[in-house]
This record gives sequence, C-alpha cells and structure tokens, in this order.
Amino acid sequence: MAFFRTLAAAELVPTVAGEGVTLRTPQMADYQAWADLRSASRSFLRPWEPIWPADDLTRLAYRRRLKRYVREIEQDQAYPFFVFDAEGQLVGGVTLSQVRRGVAQTCSVGYWMGERHAGRGLMTKAVRALAPFVFTQLKLRRIEAACLPFNAASIRLLEKTGFQKEGYAREYLCIDGVWQDHLLYALLRSDAVG
Ligand SMILES: CC(C)(COP(=O)(O)OP(=O)(O)OC[C@H]1O[C@@H](n2cnc3c(N)ncnc32)[C@H](O)[C@@H]1OP(=O)(O)O)[C@@H](O)C(=O)NCCC(=O)NCCS
Repeated sequence: MAFFRTLAAAELVPTVAGEGVTLRTPQMADYQAWADLRSASRSFLRPWEPIWPADDLTRLAYRRRLKRYVREIEQDQAYPFFVFDAEGQLVGGVTLSQVRRGVAQTCSVGYWMGERHAGRGLMTKAVRALAPFVFTQLKLRRIEAACLPFNAASIRLLEKTGFQKEGYAREYLCIDGVWQDHLLYALLRSDAVG
C-alpha cells in the first residue's frame, strides 16, 4: 500500500529539467544514495539545519518521510524534490513547503547540497529551474526563503537567482538546536528570474 502511495506521489509531480540538473520527487529507490550523501555531509549541513532525529538516516524513517511527502503533495502543502546532476547522481534536495493559497499564493523554499557537490553551481541551476514550476504550474506568485545572516553561500545563491531581501526576523527558526534570527528573502512572479 505504502509502495503504491509513493508511486502515486511521484506521478503527481512532473520531473523538472534545468541546465545540467534534473529535479524529481524522492522515491524509495533513492534511499541508499540519499542516506550515504546525508551521512557524509552531516557536519557540513549541521550548522544550517534543524537537529536530525536520531533515526533520521534509517530506511524506516525514510519510508515515513516518503509517506509524509505523499500526504503533503496530495494536500498541496509541499513539493519535495531531489536534485540530480548530468550524470544522474543524487547531489542534494530542494523543497517547496508551507504552500498558502487564498489571498497569499506563496510558498517557502529550502535546500541542501551534499558536501562533495557544493560550489559546482548546481543549486543555483536547481532553483532557477524550479521557479517556472512554482509560478506556471503551481500558479503561486511568491517564493519565500529564510537564511541565517552568516550563511554566505545561501545569501549568494538567493541573490544570484533574483531573490530580494525583504526583512529580518528575530528568533525565526530553530536551527542546530538554537532559535536563530534569519534574513528573509522573496522572489515574485513579476521579478525576473536570475
Ligand atoms: C547553500 C547551498 C545549498 C548552495 O548550494 P551550491 O550548489 O553549493 O550553490 P552554488 O554553487 O550554486 O552557489 C553558491 C554560491 O555561493 C558562493 N559561496 C559558497 N561558499 C561561500 C562562502 N563561504 N562565502 C561566500 N560565498 C560563498 C559560491 O562561490 C557561489 O557563488 P558564485 O557562483 O558567485 O561563485 C550549499 O552550500 C549548502 O547545502 N550549504 C549547507 C546547507 C545550507 O546552507 N542550506 C541552506 C539553508 S538556508
């Protein structure tokens, strides 16, 4: 049953193709590559992410993660993607979450890159590829991003892709176990995608 639900989610969301990157919904078959990459990148990612649950990298927790993804996609709440390079290698992930319809028509973007793949320009390409999906297919009009004020790589990525700084939110998210202030960025449908 869970297997069929996972398949269904993958089919609900199209594969998004960018310049030298492909984004698609996570599948059970990605588990080993995902767990290996996350495990190898643990200390690289740790300062920028919520604390990982103790069992996060287990197959069971991954299965639960996929079930949550299916539910969120079906309910138009979130759209998770894995990012693959031109060789088809899993390099990272990017998730559209907190979809708000009604008078907001907005979502949040979050991303991570495996340490060994960072600095190759791949997340810039992934975010550029995702923007038309958000604005044209999901018909949202705004993508929000929050990052730590000292996350130079993330700030550079957002600025390169056309996001504009909109504010500063105090104790906005609990990152690495600490409630930390964040810079708030957004890209509007009416902005040129960088
Ligand atoms: C942020 C992150 C996703 C960027 O992915 P990436 O594929 O490495 O990004 P790109 O290579 O497309 O672009 C990164 C840019 O930041 C720059 N950069 C990287 N590290 C930097 C640093 N320490 N100081 C200044 N600039 C830096 C790169 O030079 C590049 O800019 P350029 O093209 O002008 O040279 C990746 O670094 C990462 O996963 N970091 C840890 C987790 C994280 O920060 N997640 C986001 C939380 S908001």
